[in-house]
Amino acid sequence: MLRQCALRVLLRTRAAPGCRRYGSCSPSAPGDTGEARAHFTTPIFYVNAAPHIGHLYSALLADALCRHRRLRVPGSASTRFSTGTDEHGLKIQQAAATAGLSPIELCDRVSAQFQQLFREAGISSTDFIRTTEARHRLAVQHFWEVLEARGLLYKGLYEGWYCASDECFLPEAKVTRQVSPTGDPCPVSLESGHPVSWTKEENYIFRLSQFREPLQRWLRDSPQAITPEPFHQTVLQWLQEELPDLSVSRRSSHLHWGIPVPGDDSQTVYVWLDALVNYLTVLGYPDADFKSWWPATSHIIGKDILKFHAIYWPALLLGAGLRPPHRIYVHSHWTVSGQKMSKSLGNVVDPRACLDRYTVDGFRYFLLRQGVPNWDCDYYDEKVVKLLDSELADALGGLLNRCTAYRINPSGTYPSFCTACFPSEPGLTGPSVRVQAEDYALVSAMATLPKQVADYYDNFQIYKALEAVSSCVRQTNGFIQRHAPWKLTWESPADALWLGTVLHVALECLRVFGTLLQPVTPNLADKLLSRLGVSATERGLRELHFLPRFYGHPCPFEGRKLGPDTGLLFPRLDQSRTWLVKAHRT
Ligand code: MSP
Repeated sequence: MLRQCALRVLLRTRAAPGCRRYGSCSPSAPGDTGEARAHFTTPIFYVNAAPHIGHLYSALLADALCRHRRLRVPGSASTRFSTGTDEHGLKIQQAAATAGLSPIELCDRVSAQFQQLFREAGISSTDFIRTTEARHRLAVQHFWEVLEARGLLYKGLYEGWYCASDECFLPEAKVTRQVSPTGDPCPVSLESGHPVSWTKEENYIFRLSQFREPLQRWLRDSPQAITPEPFHQTVLQWLQEELPDLSVSRRSSHLHWGIPVPGDDSQTVYVWLDALVNYLTVLGYPDADFKSWWPATSHIIGKDILKFHAIYWPALLLGAGLRPPHRIYVHSHWTVSGQKMSKSLGNVVDPRACLDRYTVDGFRYFLLRQGVPNWDCDYYDEKVVKLLDSELADALGGLLNRCTAYRINPSGTYPSFCTACFPSEPGLTGPSVRVQAEDYALVSAMATLPKQVADYYDNFQIYKALEAVSSCVRQTNGFIQRHAPWKLTWESPADALWLGTVLHVALECLRVFGTLLQPVTPNLADKLLSRLGVSATERGLRELHFLPRFYGHPCPFEGRKLGPDTGLLFPRLDQSRTWLVKAHRT
């Protein structure tokens, strides 16, 4: 793949000043950014077309990682989260011409659509960057000048294929011929199927070839730099092959919609170099303060743009005397009913319609629960309804209802836990002991859940974190089913202690679920925690001590009034089966 850029660079090389020691920018060791600061990024989105669910998925993954980090390390000052739109390049220039708009009109229109979608979907970014902003032009031009001063750019003749849709150069081996509707052979990219055209022009070239070893060293020294692991291996494999130099500008007469090369208006900066620098722009680059954040950055990207983030970007950074990013999290794609999503197939799923239909929290939950970064996932509506009804409406909503309904909890309080009914040591017997062996399994699963979830987040396995929560919800429902609190009465003193204990344990489980679900379903989690009477300062991971009375500590919730009943936690989407749930709940 990287043998590509059939760069027949006919070297009319500017003298390269003494080669720098790139290895001296020792890459970040895993975890060396510690807990102090963290910056999460989404890719910046092309504005040639309206957003679809794939774009929202990229943003949601970043949002959930960022929200989870805020739960772990409170205080807004130590976490940043940037997203934005990628507005320059041939692709946008051509899309604007086709739409009969000026490029900036198209950019304004589509960038606004992304901003609105992200607002509606609860994307908690702290910065939204547009590459047409003045701050970005300044950063890109400065970055360029640094590369130039370090002798890493030279002028040469580039001749090869260019794919405007993918904004990338391609070697002959990655190009195939398709027959166009007019019957003519049409060269297209093998990978994306998008048309390519032959280019021959004098450009500025980046000495990418010099970075093969430093990149290999970086990946060897930071085995977690690219997650999931198979993508790390893919990049190492690419680096086994020759790494050709990279053309980093285009003739302005051909591409005028972009940032001019400093000191040479006849050339426009290559859109990928322009776009990648956004990650520095948002940190204030080139002001010195950006260094207090870089390289504490984690990029969330789709697999189609791995090469740009895992090879070009770290090489450019090393070239500019900066370290590679802390981590690169890679996800796969959404298909629709088994097909690639595309405008020409007419199967693009509108994310705003989905948020309307399934609610913001419902759709966030679906995409993050079903999306598996390692491989492509298929979208269809029935799947959403089935998942949300069973996991959010029935299992979680039903559980909350079972523990808070007036019938079962008429005082509307968080009842006390009775250690005589539920002793800390399994196997004890006595007249008050009502606990069963399986109940200890529930307690132990619940006690380890927050750590398990945190580990899954660290490994970019949010779907597994949600699977683990969902499994504990099922176990808690089993606990309720086993002890059938509706068969116990508050009037009998012996029953009352045990009834209170059963409800206390279930409410404690719900408190943990509500806390852990905040990064994925923030509104639903808020509703759940508010119903339990958990205040805003009691919702972080540091405060999350599950079932403290079981471990011999006081419980701040015991005897506390529950919050007001604001209705069903998550109404079923498939109303035709509502009667079933009602029957189940009574
Ligand atoms: N502009 C570049 C990124 C520059 S970042 C310095 C770009 N933009 S994009 O709009 O085409 O894609 C943005 C993100 O959306 C990428 O991470 C891409 O993988 C993701 N997705 C695009 N289609 C997708 C699916 N069908 N499914 C999941 N994500 C997909 O690339």
